[in-house]
Amino acid sequence: MSGSSQIYRSSTTAPVNIAVIKYWGKRDTALNLPTNSSLSLTLSQKSLRAHTTASCSESFTSPDSLILNGEKEDIQSSKRTQACLKNLRSLREKLEAKDGSLPKLSKLTLRLVSANNFPTAAGLASSAAGFAALVRAIADLYELPQSPEELSIIARQGSGSACRSLMGGFVAWRAGTKEDGSDSLAEEVAPVSHWPEMRALVLVVSAEKKGVSSTAGMQTTVETSTLARARFSEIVPRRMKEIEKAIHEKDFETFARITMQDSNSFHAICLDSWPPIHYMNDVSRAAMNAVETANRKAGKLICAYTFDAGPNAVIYYLEEHTHQAAGVFKSILPRIPGWEGEFGEMIRPNEFGSLEQKSLMTLKAGVSRVICTGVGGGPEKIEEHLVDEKGIAVPHE
Ligand code: ADP
Ligand code: DP6
Repeated sequence: MSGSSQIYRSSTTAPVNIAVIKYWGKRDTALNLPTNSSLSLTLSQKSLRAHTTASCSESFTSPDSLILNGEKEDIQSSKRTQACLKNLRSLREKLEAKDGSLPKLSKLTLRLVSANNFPTAAGLASSAAGFAALVRAIADLYELPQSPEELSIIARQGSGSACRSLMGGFVAWRAGTKEDGSDSLAEEVAPVSHWPEMRALVLVVSAEKKGVSSTAGMQTTVETSTLARARFSEIVPRRMKEIEKAIHEKDFETFARITMQDSNSFHAICLDSWPPIHYMNDVSRAAMNAVETANRKAGKLICAYTFDAGPNAVIYYLEEHTHQAAGVFKSILPRIPGWEGEFGEMIRPNEFGSLEQKSLMTLKAGVSRVICTGVGGGPEKIEEHLVDEKGIAVPHE
């Protein structure tokens, strides 16, 4: 195919990441520059992923478009998406200016099609996987030579936490100090192969859209919480060092303690905001209780909870403690969906969790599904396209 009918396509999948040191606060809202560094684990794409195809062609009429899960998204009025597209186009333009033989893809309309294999905007980090996939797919379409670190600067402008989904394993987002954000980027702390035994169990408490968005919530915190200042200036910088050391030394107990402390510190500054912000509910607290009970029973920290801007619990544990940690939840919630698949099938129910009755009943009534997963790799280029050879979006399943 040649000339105006040629369809250029590139597809990628990108992972979700769940932070153990939370990003909560911006020093620049336009560029998504954070008040503190953060650190996350990239979760396996066998369980959760965004799949995006970026395509462009002279035959596409403007403007640029995005179809997400079969529905047209309004990207024209999304400053964040526009910032990503502008940055990527300008990198492509530079390549085209250097090498005149390259097709002028930067001038063509983009048609983006994406699908998440899990609920969107329900506190399961779809925006992180989504913006990472969008940036990676367009960077591949444009054949950009930039590294994942450099691309993370662009994904950050889509959604802060998205910068950490451009890499696998254990990833830090360095807050940086520059006003233009050129040093506010993600960096791999350790690859998946360093600690592949790390597992995550997600208890989906609510698959509804969340109340206060992260963007709005963190702004309220920055403007009104007095506790937040100590978190930004002292607590997080100290914890970042400690948890990176714990990861390098594969010291799970220290990792678990800091993970739980930092989740609690984040929810404490939410409660300290005005008006106060509540993300956790009774089901979340029952999950905390179950984790604390499992740890007490083991006589050491074998699992750690963390909660984002919603009630869902994410529980980190090591494969060797599958029975003592995840097994307790499987015995309490045997019939809800999500225990199938590679990670879930190896969990044997543990009837001896000794969780008190009230938390047990609350979990039974409030958890709708689980996601069994583990630490995983970064975005993957794939040949399964969501735009066909004629440039038409493949219908959403
Ligand atoms: P979540 O808790 O799932 O991250 P948010 O409300 O923070 O929820 O973000 C949801 C928004 O992220 C969506 O409305 C959409 O704009 C964007 N998003 C989610 N998935 C994708 C995707 N695959 N591609 C592009 N953008 C996405
Ligand atoms: C609680 O990255 O969704 O999940 O930059 O405004 O898009 P924006 O916010 P977002 O916030 C994530 C907050 C968090 C903590 C974290 O992932 O570090």
